[in-house]
Amino acid sequence: QENTLAQPVGITLERYIMRKQAEFPYATGELSQLLRDLALAGKIVHREVNRAGLSDITGGMGTQNVQGENQQKLDMEAHIRFVRALKNGRETCAILSEEEAEIIHTDNDSGNYVVAMDPLDGSSNIDVNVSIGTLFSIYRRVTPVGTKASEADFLQGGRQQVAAGYILYGSSTMFVYTTGHGVVGFTYEQSLGEFFLSHPNIQIPKQGKIFSCNEGYWFDYPESVRTFLMNCKRREYSGRYIGSLVADYHRNLFNGGIYMYPPTSKNPNGKLRLLYECYPLAMLIEQAGGQAVVSATEAVLDIVPTELHQRTPLFIGSPDMVQELVASGQAVL
Ligand code: AHG
Ligand code: MN
Ligand code: MN
Ligand code: MN
Repeated sequence: QENTLAQPVGITLERYIMRKQAEFPYATGELSQLLRDLALAGKIVHREVNRAGLSDITGGMGTQNVQGENQQKLDMEAHIRFVRALKNGRETCAILSEEEAEIIHTDNDSGNYVVAMDPLDGSSNIDVNVSIGTLFSIYRRVTPVGTKASEADFLQGGRQQVAAGYILYGSSTMFVYTTGHGVVGFTYEQSLGEFFLSHPNIQIPKQGKIFSCNEGYWFDYPESVRTFLMNCKRREYSGRYIGSLVADYHRNLFNGGIYMYPPTSKNPNGKLRLLYECYPLAMLIEQAGGQAVVSATEAVLDIVPTELHQRTPLFIGSPDMVQELVASGQAVL
């Protein structure tokens, strides 16, 4: 007879981080603490997201960020919560956020780490109760400890990330991250207030049947992207596009698929931001056995960054699909 009793929930994020730290004898525990700080802020944002319709937190702020996007109240709420958690944590000397043009100094100049983040991803979905997320990317600083962090700390390049991840506020809330040793996923158990390990080693299927992009820009897409998409349609693959990068990425990670934000005439470098959207997902996808490219010849992680808020095209997902896309447009993509 089938056991209908609830299964034990297992190891908490806290304990998992502690155990991992113990495997590295020289680890100081600072990165572990930083991940805990992010998880704490994630719980708070989870709470705000879940009661958004009740607490006058929907709608716009009436302000714009450095890229001219209208800031939603929840964008700023999430921004404030994460910045506060990282300031309190004391491991982070500086933060780069989508919602602030300049680097945010935490006044913990002795902190060893800097964090680039998209506090709330999927702004257009906040008010309509659709999945949204948070993205983060962590570097060990290159400027001397004790001094003010600088742009150089954030412009090290994607291969220098020491950890990256996201929190998905979906039908359940999940914390997914990598420190360069595979990808792990934790699911939030609201009644206990804890993240529990639910996905110990996430690998993306080599091939998938989902393509995700905003087809509204079809006539603006490079020919190679359209060729690839037409081939997907001939095979009756599924088009799936939530419009929250984190959620689209997460689904394709599990089911297999490709997410694309190609260059368009309005956005010749695409729309997504390299430092806090593309780099973290690119690190995660490579750790999960997938690929992320910006063109036929360049991996996202190999782009040399020049600006804090720079944009880049993004093609990311199952390796066979990314390779097929690349083959369809060697010259132009
Ligand atoms: P953000 O809400 O952090 O500004 O990011 C929005 C991004 C991303 O989440 C999503 O994939 C993309 O914008 C959707 O853009 P389009 O509406 O152009 O498809
Ligand atoms: Mn935005
Ligand atoms: Mn975003
Ligand atoms: Mn955002």
